Amino acid sequence: MQERLQKFLARSGVASRREAEKMMLAGKVKVNGQIITELGFKIDPKQDKVYIDNQAIRPEKLVYLLFNKPKGVVTTLVDPEGRKTIADYLTGIKERVYPVGRLDYNTEGLLLLTNDGTLAQGLMHPKHHVNKTYLVTVVGIALEEQLDKLRIGVELEDGLTAPAIVQLVEYQHEKNLTVFTITIHEGKNRQVRRMCDCIGHPVRQLTRTKIANLNLSGLGRGKFRILNEQEVKALYKAAKLDG
Ligand code: URA
Repeated sequence: MQERLQKFLARSGVASRREAEKMMLAGKVKVNGQIITELGFKIDPKQDKVYIDNQAIRPEKLVYLLFNKPKGVVTTLVDPEGRKTIADYLTGIKERVYPVGRLDYNTEGLLLLTNDGTLAQGLMHPKHHVNKTYLVTVVGIALEEQLDKLRIGVELEDGLTAPAIVQLVEYQHEKNLTVFTITIHEGKNRQVRRMCDCIGHPVRQLTRTKIANLNLSGLGRGKFRILNEQEVKALYKAAKLDG
């Protein structure tokens, strides 16, 4: 996948993107032996050799993980309270990956982790409208009129939620529960739980089942897998990035 030279330099940790641009303009950056001053210049990080002041630059390999987070795990790499963290599950991963957004301690399901800051920011930016789907079990029988409120948008203390796609899965009359799926593209804190509180049906169980093109298919709880190139490309597209 091709990448802008200044982005590659920023990713390698030698400078911020702006500083990298300054270095390029100052003629300090070479690609395959040629000085490059054009800011739009793209390289293939797998093949091209990049040097600053004749020193070779090798950025950390980019990794993209899809993790099926269990309940009772914090979405951080360390926890001062000593609770289980996502780091406890990432055995064999040498790169420093970070979660893309977060899931509550008691929410389970799909979590992306990466050391690609550009993609992470693109996926989290509200203006890019990246869809996230949740399977929700709420207390009580939530009638279609109440689900309609979620579809239209509800008023939370930090603003009105955007229209959501909501599909009833089933009523469990004997347990007094309703199961439905909800697809949202915002990332407000505890958004689904607060939306359900707003219609008077608190969440009993919450699982994220999908982000953009990815789902949990074949991935057991507590397991992760590495995304392939096509999946990463599709995520770049979903995050409105050119790759
Ligand atoms: N919405 C929530 O309420 N919690 C999550 O963990 C994710 C979305």
